[in-house]
Amino acid sequence: MDILKITDTAKAMVADNKGLLAMDESTASCNKRFAALGIPQTEKARRDYRELLITTPRLSQFISGVILCDETIRQTKKDGTPFIKVITDAGIIPGIKVDAGEVDFKSHPGEKIAEGLDGLAERLEEYVKLGARFAKWRGEIIIGKGIPSKDCIEANAKALANYAILCQEAGLVPIVEPEVMMEGDHTIDRCLELTTEVLHAVFNQLNLHHVALEGIILKPNMILPGLDCTIQESIEEVADATVNFLLQSVPANVPGIAFLSGGQSYQLASARLNAMNTRFKGKLPWALTFSFSRAIQQPALETWQGNRYNVEEAQAELFHRAKCNYAARRGEYDATMERS
Ligand code: 13P
Repeated sequence: MDILKITDTAKAMVADNKGLLAMDESTASCNKRFAALGIPQTEKARRDYRELLITTPRLSQFISGVILCDETIRQTKKDGTPFIKVITDAGIIPGIKVDAGEVDFKSHPGEKIAEGLDGLAERLEEYVKLGARFAKWRGEIIIGKGIPSKDCIEANAKALANYAILCQEAGLVPIVEPEVMMEGDHTIDRCLELTTEVLHAVFNQLNLHHVALEGIILKPNMILPGLDCTIQESIEEVADATVNFLLQSVPANVPGIAFLSGGQSYQLASARLNAMNTRFKGKLPWALTFSFSRAIQQPALETWQGNRYNVEEAQAELFHRAKCNYAARRGEYDATMERS
């Protein structure tokens, strides 16, 4: 294992106050978002949209890496230039989502497990040849009546660790993404309790599998009340709960923590990340940044609407969200930025 190369990539992914653009939605998820806006759910429309994202001028000012999916990593611009070349020429690091999505977790109704370990080593080899330098695997933990079970938490943690060591053996940085979902009416305390249990299981498995922690990026959820919970804590309370929890749960040799947005509004995602970086400035052992999908792309997608005449305006929206989140990473985001 070339640990120096892996740790260099991991550091570069969170360097210079930048963050990651997650554009690795599966075809089904991308189609769902297109359908909601009346955009055709075709391979051509998905390709056009992803070309819009990666050709956004000056995106690399704020974005260090982009997460692609299997369809996108093989695509080219309309002029035939491979997406991977466009990304690397822009000075952005390309990565690839490698889990094959969630399936029902055996004999545990309502719970899910990510699949995709079969043949993963061979797929990673191919992605490396295509130019990927990091990978991503997401394990989904759903909060509900009587769930999650310990079995489901453990199985997802094992899958994440199996994936992570295969990535490092292939020379890729694994983004380890255990996501405790926001859907539901649970309290922030319940989210904290479960996310603590989940990260404990994940780091235990990463250690058992001899994953080099200095060569991973952790992609967790923030500590939040459920979307339907009647009590919604303030931005500052969320920031404190999240960072205090991370300080207790994440070893200091992990180079970076890059949050998913999970269904928060894009303004709240930026404001919460900003509050964390403001209130804990100079006290954090790891970089605290973003790896948002919805909270960075949504305004661009809504502006584009599948219309080529809206491309420039949509790119301006993506650029603006990237700039806001870059500011949040530095603790310099302000709601007044949203008016510009
Ligand atoms: P969201 O930011 O929309 O939660 O997506 C992040 C991600 O990468 C999902 O796997």
